[in-house]
Amino acid sequence: MAEAKPENEIEDDQCPVGKIIHKWVCDKEKECLDKVGGNKERFREDVKKALDKLFNAHKIFKLEEGIQSFKYERTFIQFGYIYKHAMFSARSLSKVMHRSNVLNKLEEKSSITIACLGGGPGSDVLGVLDYFRDFEGQLNIQLYDRKNKWGKCWKSLQAAIDEELHDPRVTVSFHDFDVTTADKNKPDIQDADVITMHYFMEEVYSEREKEEVKECFDHIIQTAKPGALFLYSGMYMYQATDWVHRLLKDNCKVLEPNMDLHIDLPRICQDYITVESIWIYRIQVDLRQEGDLKLFYDIRDNLETGGYPVKEISFRLDGNVVYRLYQKK
Ligand SMILES: C[S@@+](CC[C@H](N)C(=O)[O-])C[C@H]1O[C@@H](n2cnc3c(N)ncnc32)[C@H](O)[C@@H]1O
Repeated sequence: MAEAKPENEIEDDQCPVGKIIHKWVCDKEKECLDKVGGNKERFREDVKKALDKLFNAHKIFKLEEGIQSFKYERTFIQFGYIYKHAMFSARSLSKVMHRSNVLNKLEEKSSITIACLGGGPGSDVLGVLDYFRDFEGQLNIQLYDRKNKWGKCWKSLQAAIDEELHDPRVTVSFHDFDVTTADKNKPDIQDADVITMHYFMEEVYSEREKEEVKECFDHIIQTAKPGALFLYSGMYMYQATDWVHRLLKDNCKVLEPNMDLHIDLPRICQDYITVESIWIYRIQVDLRQEGDLKLFYDIRDNLETGGYPVKEISFRLDGNVVYRLYQKK
């Protein structure tokens, strides 16, 4: 077993990824303020509404029904997402990568390609950048998601990365991808060493019986190179975990996490209808976000709503993230 890499965390707005997030959030804040003519009161109200919408959309029963029409493209929803989720998503993906045995072996290569399916505004890109922050070779990160939802965020993220990173060895590319649309459901992931699916499969679970969706995952699994790693992580949602397992099990083997690290005990995930159980590992990530960025102290306290604790982020369940690692045979 390769030696475990020391675990680092995206700490605040001073570390490289924190600086990128800071710039990115501020750009989106400016766009939101412009939209409400600089009115701070309306800005606060609209952010609060956006956070409520995000929180409600990610309830498990809502995901089961399907939230494909959710308006991620709206400016305030994007601000809410980046403000509340980006640091958590990046931190949790980086931590899951640390826990996943064999990922550190990749750093012996001179070039690594990571494909982030359903990478959203780009939080997954930041998690990958954080995990590979000491890697000295060529790092290619490809993000796949719906451009009509996130295209604007991708531009400002690219600008923030270019401004902060100045590293020609890192390339980030953004690709229009939609699992439900025939001409956008075949991502070019054949060079990928790792394919991440972070808080993504839950969101397309409702579409799983569609022909386009079956074709999409069939394409991904068949075109991935032998040895490629599939890293599935996200919510504690048995149905999605079970679906992912059924998609991957014939062409991949399940890998154990790095047992040298002090990991939380695996948890049994049980389908309440069939009572079938599978083991699934989990990590816990601190739900800190705005505090670390030292941003928006003026609005933070005003965002508290009656329905959920202000620190909770759209059903991120106290920072618990489940994950499984598969390897293509
Ligand atoms: C909860 S977000 C997760 C984003 C990111 N991975 C993160 O952890 O912050 C779920 C993502 O799934 C994407 N998604 C939903 N339906 C999709 C579809 N049909 N095709 C591609 N992506 C989709 C959404 O656009 C969104 O970015």
